[in-house]
Amino acid sequence: MFSAGHLLPLLLAFVVHTSTVLARPHSYAVWAADSATKRGQGNGLSSSGQPSVSYEHGELQWGLRQLYERTGNKTYYNYIVSGANNIVYDNGTVHGGYTISDYSLDPVRTGPTFLYLYSRTKQAKWKTAADIFRGQLNGHPRTAEGQFWHKLRYFNQGWLDGIYMGDVFYAQYTKDFQPTNATAWADIAAQFTLIYRNTLQAPGSANYTGLLYHGYDYSHTAVWASPDRGHSPEIWDRALGWYFMAMVDVLDIFPESNSGYASIQNILRALAPKLRDAADLKSGVWWLVMTQPGRAQNYFESSGTAMFVYSLLKGVRMGYIPDSDGSIVKAAKKAYQYMIANWVVANPDGTMDWTSTVEVGSLSGNGTFEYYVGVPTALNDLKGVAAFLLASLEYERL
Ligand SMILES: *[C@@H]1O[C@H](CO)[C@@H](O)[C@H](O)[C@H]1NC(C)=O
Ligand SMILES: *[C@@H]1O[C@H](CO)[C@@H](O)[C@H](O)[C@H]1NC(C)=O
Ligand SMILES: *[C@@H]1O[C@H](CO)[C@@H](O)[C@H](O)[C@H]1NC(C)=O
Ligand SMILES: *[C@@H]1O[C@H](CO)[C@@H](O)[C@H](O)[C@H]1NC(C)=O
Ligand SMILES: *[C@@H]1O[C@H](CO)[C@@H](O)[C@H](O)[C@H]1NC(C)=O
Repeated sequence: MFSAGHLLPLLLAFVVHTSTVLARPHSYAVWAADSATKRGQGNGLSSSGQPSVSYEHGELQWGLRQLYERTGNKTYYNYIVSGANNIVYDNGTVHGGYTISDYSLDPVRTGPTFLYLYSRTKQAKWKTAADIFRGQLNGHPRTAEGQFWHKLRYFNQGWLDGIYMGDVFYAQYTKDFQPTNATAWADIAAQFTLIYRNTLQAPGSANYTGLLYHGYDYSHTAVWASPDRGHSPEIWDRALGWYFMAMVDVLDIFPESNSGYASIQNILRALAPKLRDAADLKSGVWWLVMTQPGRAQNYFESSGTAMFVYSLLKGVRMGYIPDSDGSIVKAAKKAYQYMIANWVVANPDGTMDWTSTVEVGSLSGNGTFEYYVGVPTALNDLKGVAAFLLASLEYERL
């Protein structure tokens, strides 16, 4: 027989184990979504409760929409609706800090939500709101080659981030309302190819990865611009993550018969193996500054890693990326295991915390290694939480 002294630890272990299991939903995707929504994140309001048009909210809504479609649970759909209602008046005017004359691509990332709600409800307000963003693109400043500037105040600059912010919306709008607009399809493909050509790291560069620098200044005048090509000096994981997500999401929308489809897919196919090879060998995840692996103060960053996992798994699942030897999926799975073991923290209230996401990375400063590593990380940063939701949705389909 067991003595009480032997039984007690066993009982305690059972209790602790049981409560952990009860607190945590079976799915990490559900857990991430429920934790974010319970905190009120991504609901069209700033942390002080003011209406706010935010690309992070658009990113979360993209995940919630997939989760709704996967589970049929209307809670997620309703959360998207209330979030969008917080930034769009009944007459379709977008408020919450949106000003067309900023010519910023960031707010446009909420546009796919408007298109989604219009497709489901046919309520005019969502079309009106989408038309406002589409109108912005018509007047948006561009480089001489045709690349949208990231924002009006960043003269002649293309950033990888902006591809995710602007072009998934641009494609969905074109598909829904102007499917035969060849100029628009060519323009969307050009956004991807121009930034690729202008930011691709040249063979022979120090610490060669063959991936893409954060951005470029077509006029080569920014303090960080390389004299020869105008690109910024470092490869920043999240910027590349936005670009990868934009590729795998836009290929769902882009007409396969249009030559732009192959242009985008060829870029994805060229970059995916290089991304696989840039992962840290031991952990399987990616460095914040990918051009300086292992350097003091550099670290494994969670939002970029989650974006890469989502993009690689989705890209293979959809057949956009070939993976005949299974090495791409293997790399993504290894990174996912690291994420759940190291960046997800269970809270007593049943929610999860998400750690190690860098708050921001901008080319408004000097773009150096010191700049990127000097930006703090933030707990439950929505850019990372939403990316983890997306990565989990893909992982759980394997
Ligand atoms: C739907 O999701 C919400 C939030 O996670 C949850 O509280 C609710 O129980 C779910 N409903 C169903 C029918 O599963
Ligand atoms: C739309 O509604 C808002 C809020 O009621 C109002 O301030 C704005 O003037 C209206 N815009 C138009 C174009 O009617
Ligand atoms: C087609 O797209 C181009 C480029 O965005 C735009 O300038 C033009 O107005 C669009 N054409 C129509 C008929 O909407
Ligand atoms: C190459 O990477 C090493 C290790 O992170 C770093 O110390 C070095 O500064 C990098 N060189 C360049 C030119 O980025
Ligand atoms: C670049 O900016 C960072 C702060 O963002 C600063 O620490 C660093 O010294 C700057 N480097 C140069 C070369 O100006």
